[in-house]
Amino acid sequence: MLQNPKRYTITAALPYTNGPIHIGHLAGVYVPSDIYSRYLRLLGKDVAFICGSDEHGVAISMKAKKEGITPQEVIDKYDGIIRKSFLDFGISFDNYSRTSSQIHHDTASEFFRKLYNDGKFIEEVTEQLYDAKANQFLADRFVVGTCPKCGNEEAYGDQCERCGSTLNATDLINPKSTITGDTPVLKSTKHWFLPLDQYDAFLKEWILKDHAKDWKTNVLGQVKSWLDDGLKPRAVTRDLDWGIPVPVEGAVGKVLYVWFDAPIGYISSTKEWAKREGKDWEPYWKSADTKLVHFIGKDNIVFHCVIFPAMLKAEGSYILPDNVPANEFLNLEGNKLSTSKNWAVWLHEYLEDFPDKQDVLRYALTSNAPETKDNDFTWKDFQARNNNELVAVFGNFINRVVVLTNKYYDGLVPEPEAFSEVDVQTLSEMHAYPAVISSSVERYRFREALVELMNLARLGNKYLADEEPWKLIKENPERVKTQMYIALQIATALAILSEPFLPFTSAKLKKMLNVHPSPEAVIDWLEVSKAEQILAPGTKIGVAELLFAKIEDEEIQRQIDKLEATKTANKAENKKAEPQKDLIQFEDFAKMDLRTGTIIEAEKMPKANKLLVLKVDTGIDIRTIVSGIAESFSPEGIIGQKVTVLVNLAPRNLRGVESQGMILMAANAAGKLVFVNPDAEVPNGETIN
Ligand code: 2FM
Ligand code: ZN
Repeated sequence: MLQNPKRYTITAALPYTNGPIHIGHLAGVYVPSDIYSRYLRLLGKDVAFICGSDEHGVAISMKAKKEGITPQEVIDKYDGIIRKSFLDFGISFDNYSRTSSQIHHDTASEFFRKLYNDGKFIEEVTEQLYDAKANQFLADRFVVGTCPKCGNEEAYGDQCERCGSTLNATDLINPKSTITGDTPVLKSTKHWFLPLDQYDAFLKEWILKDHAKDWKTNVLGQVKSWLDDGLKPRAVTRDLDWGIPVPVEGAVGKVLYVWFDAPIGYISSTKEWAKREGKDWEPYWKSADTKLVHFIGKDNIVFHCVIFPAMLKAEGSYILPDNVPANEFLNLEGNKLSTSKNWAVWLHEYLEDFPDKQDVLRYALTSNAPETKDNDFTWKDFQARNNNELVAVFGNFINRVVVLTNKYYDGLVPEPEAFSEVDVQTLSEMHAYPAVISSSVERYRFREALVELMNLARLGNKYLADEEPWKLIKENPERVKTQMYIALQIATALAILSEPFLPFTSAKLKKMLNVHPSPEAVIDWLEVSKAEQILAPGTKIGVAELLFAKIEDEEIQRQIDKLEATKTANKAENKKAEPQKDLIQFEDFAKMDLRTGTIIEAEKMPKANKLLVLKVDTGIDIRTIVSGIAESFSPEGIIGQKVTVLVNLAPRNLRGVESQGMILMAANAAGKLVFVNPDAEVPNGETIN
């Protein structure tokens, strides 16, 4: 681990522009990297926080084929959505670039050429999978088949998502083209390979020895298993029409493999930033006193810990990452997040539904971050985190402090008298928090850091609850001045220390407390822990504003319903129409007496979730029918509903009520029951045939 770095290059995995950002991406990569970057800036460090859109690769081509648009249209659409949602959510990238930009094409091409000219590649003609119908070579996601390692039948040509193995398309058993569904044939083609096996000793030394203590165990474990398996040369070019053309002679129709160009995107994005800011990009990538940290999800570990470092090493002038704190996966309500199955909470939709609650999501995702194992996001947990922690602990403390200061002192921070033992103890506990939080953040333990931040709010609440200034204000107003002074110092500490985790709240709170410290004053405060330097007696604070609002059950239910609708839609999509039943004769059909009718009364059957007891005007009579439709309709909503009734069905006794017929129903695409009802003004009792 690099001690006292002079500058930091923090990268967050470049998201593919084949879909919007969801909470899994946020929890795994963007929230932790943002916390880390904000934390470093708070300490006055020189930080380049880098990201951008990953716009090449088969994932994009496939999306374009599916939507019937061009790859360029796909990337423009999602780059726009992703960029805006990051901005609205407050992810503080110093630069967000695109791998379709000229600067990236130039940087990646130059990188390839350097390795090519230095003889770092193996050039080889090999047999690759080819789809004759589509007239195209198949690699990566253009081919699926059975994983040779774990037997997963849906492994991709470059990676098995079940066991995490990196694969070559030709490794797959029973490969199938995802373009035509055909079984591919083998066809010769020339490619350039990076001989990863030659970097085996370097990787073992660098990761398993030098970083055995400071890297996360999940990352070390994955790296070790790849190294144990033995590294093989890996193709860094592809026969595709979407990507960066291979910049050497004799490579017509070939592009760089997306995982060759994407990590170079970190470098080109840094260049773009430096150019704009009038800085030199090179120290951020080439100076030994720069700390480079890659934030990624666990499916990206091999690319950032084996392949990209081997590329950097081969190039020769770059530094290597100091750490790659990869997270595990976040699930949603017990199921794996999935862009294609629409099983996700999409960031841009969340921001529409909860426009001023960025920090609530940041809080819920960090509290439950998949730092050491897969975790589950549930809307109920999200609500509980907000209501029981942010509102009841943090918000409640700040509200009390600000309201009482305004009430007792017209908003002026009081001058303290002599400190009691409890005061001294409380202030000293408060002053310990910056170091405690910092130690957790430095070790990439953001959950732990957030717990400590909330403990600081709890310290404030406990102090007020024990001291009860509201009881003392009449008989000992002097003492209350000291109490409120101390509570205000804790509120100030929260305003400063919450910035990396809850940036919107921190800004609101600073405004409320009227504290606008310079960056130097904050650093001083963090180091010297002199609270008065920031909120001095005599400062006029603002009025109380709501920091967090309670989230009601209905809001949560709406989100749960949205997910339920996705589930039903997915089921409907997978549902095949029932096969036709055996033939019947006309006489069989003619036995059924179907009539038009109207529901005139409806009520729930006691103790039965599914049943409604209906009174139906059949035109012949008014009769009782028990119908299993209670989960799709409320009784009030169906009075007056036109229906089709089978009137000569033998009566049946259901839960003690005689049902004298049956109402015809079908299910819509989402699985909800719908009436098979006569369309127009047909009077009750009309025969249907
Ligand atoms: O897994 C992904 O979403 C990739 N687009 C991540 C790329 S990270 C980097 F190397 F650019
Ligand atoms: Zn597998």
